[in-house]
Amino acid sequence: MIATLSFSFAFAGLCVAGAQNGNYNQLYRPQAHFSPERNWTNDPNGLVYFHGEYHLFFQYNPYGDTWGHMSWGHAVSNDLIHWKQLSVAIPEENGVMIFTGSVVIDHDDTSGLCKPAKECLVAIYTGDGDTPQGHRETQNLAYSKDDGRSWSKYSGNPVLDLHLSDFRDPNVSWDARQHQWLMAVSLPREHKVSFYHSRDLKHWEHLSDFGPAGDTGGAWECPDLLQVPYADKSRSMWVLKVGLNPGAPQGGSGEQYFVGDFDGTTFRASEEPGAHGWTNYGKDDYCAISFNGIPHGDPPVLLGWMNNWEYAEKLPTSPWRGQMSLPRKLFLVRDQGGWALAQEPVISLLRKSTVPLNLTAPTAGEETIATLSPPYELEVDQFGADAKRFGVMIYSDDRHWTEIGFDLGKQEFYIDRTRSDSAAISGFAARTTASLVLGRHNDLKLIIDRSSVEAFAQQGTIAMTDLIYPPSSSNRVVLFSSSPISSEKNIKMWKLDSIWQDSELAQ
Ligand code: FRU
Repeated sequence: MIATLSFSFAFAGLCVAGAQNGNYNQLYRPQAHFSPERNWTNDPNGLVYFHGEYHLFFQYNPYGDTWGHMSWGHAVSNDLIHWKQLSVAIPEENGVMIFTGSVVIDHDDTSGLCKPAKECLVAIYTGDGDTPQGHRETQNLAYSKDDGRSWSKYSGNPVLDLHLSDFRDPNVSWDARQHQWLMAVSLPREHKVSFYHSRDLKHWEHLSDFGPAGDTGGAWECPDLLQVPYADKSRSMWVLKVGLNPGAPQGGSGEQYFVGDFDGTTFRASEEPGAHGWTNYGKDDYCAISFNGIPHGDPPVLLGWMNNWEYAEKLPTSPWRGQMSLPRKLFLVRDQGGWALAQEPVISLLRKSTVPLNLTAPTAGEETIATLSPPYELEVDQFGADAKRFGVMIYSDDRHWTEIGFDLGKQEFYIDRTRSDSAAISGFAARTTASLVLGRHNDLKLIIDRSSVEAFAQQGTIAMTDLIYPPSSSNRVVLFSSSPISSEKNIKMWKLDSIWQDSELAQ
């Protein structure tokens, strides 16, 4: 009896394609962000653009809504926004869980795994499990010859084994300059990112280590080495990002970046102002990685897990738990404040209609500009000139709201969610902050979904993402400013479409 039950449960979990049962229309179900139809997810994995399709693999428990049995879930999209979940891509097997990793397009069959085809997808992931010698994390390959629909594990696994219990999250990309594969992989306890190179994805040689550096208050996880263009595309610089958990400035998990140089062997961080920063100043964006296979010269597109290990397993959602951030294009800015990584969310495709605003006269104080339900997007180019405090409040009822604002007295940008949620999740109440850089323009872009606020301030150089669990999905949007907001032209608002199909939304 028990065996029968667990088999049917497993089967339901593994075959999610085409689920159409209204699970996508709950109070907290994100409408502009990806979440699995059911069960637990954490980090995005193996992001790749191949044959006209974006692939989002993700850490997934096919059997429940808390962490465990880690496997790779799978979703595909034609536009980075609308996702269709497919069956589990790479399942846990023989007690070895499939931890975070990446997928590359092996264009010339360097691995020999694509035969008879000339190219295929190869996943490089961490296998996590117990051996007679103790707990081990090793790097492994799996390959797919049918556009990611089915995967085989390489018979010669593991391809990289240092006999360590913590050695994970390989991020592999093609190094066109030296015609080789390059891996950034984390030594979490040593606060190091190790670089390896390979000609065939099967044999790896150590190149160098970066770290300890920056913040080392927790484990280093999920590295990604990126080439990021300047906003004017005149040139690009190398940026190394790495997750830190716990010990991030906002508490729990967070991600730091280093702007620097990579000569094909060694990454050297710049010591100039702004060269060390945080990819997100909110609490809920972790283990973001970029898409492989994006056309050369295009900015990298980063996508993260919208969550924090402090409370990830306590979030009040069912039958799913965990969601992804919006994808963001990355640029580098260099100005009076030094370096900064700037982010531009990919969202405009979802704009359905502009929202008429009730901004009748230039006023100081508070003004309700619209009442609507998420998802929606708000852009404010300029709040009142000379104002010292300004921003937006999102009321879900008279007693619950989220405040997003600029405080020039303290030179800080903030999101305050201490009064936003009805759910009593311990450790969840928070006011997250980021320092404003003097002289940068204080504009704001907000994307409000049913259970999140994603904010981009000072031309995207501050990204701040925070989950919220408001008691209702009706929002009164209030602008506040200590001096009059000059004109309606400054403010634009769009109602966004849901990324889910009507059949998935129907109750
Ligand atoms: C980060 C992480 C990774 C690991 C995965 C396991 O959130 O701990 O380092 O590969 O989650 O699910």
